[in-house]
Amino acid sequence: MSSPSGATTDGAALYQQWCAGCHGATGRGDGPNARALPVAPARHADAVTMGARGDDALFDTIGGGGAIMNRSARMPAFGGTLTSVQIRALVRRIRILCRCEGPAWSRAELRS
Ligand code: HEC
Repeated sequence: MSSPSGATTDGAALYQQWCAGCHGATGRGDGPNARALPVAPARHADAVTMGARGDDALFDTIGGGGAIMNRSARMPAFGGTLTSVQIRALVRRIRILCRCEGPAWSRAELRS
């Protein structure tokens, strides 16, 4: 899939480029910058924690940053840097790292 700037929409590549420095290459919260932070970066490999978050919550946190979700502002907002397509690819990347899905209520289709 292509994007206007020609930037990648590959979730693994995006994660490596933008997230691994804090969250670690495999999402264990152990990137090289992690120890300099006052708050530990989330462990995206943790199925219990990530399984409690719906895809929408992950999307909003990545786009709007930690602060809008009442979390640490040390989690940067990427909405000005990455497209929504790229952010969705990162949500899928987190689902691969945690080998988990969001809670059933967040996945259920609305039926009338
Ligand atoms: C400068 C370091 C840093 C970078 C870079 C960074 N994060 Fe974070 N991130 C954090 C910290 C610190 C937290 C924990 C905030 C808290 O718990 O209050 C966090 C939390 C999160 C959360 C919330 C997890 C939860 O428990 O709900 C998500 C999702 C997330 N980061 C995704 C990403 C993604 C995707 C990227 C790359 C596009 C990224 N982060 C880049 C530092 C960073």
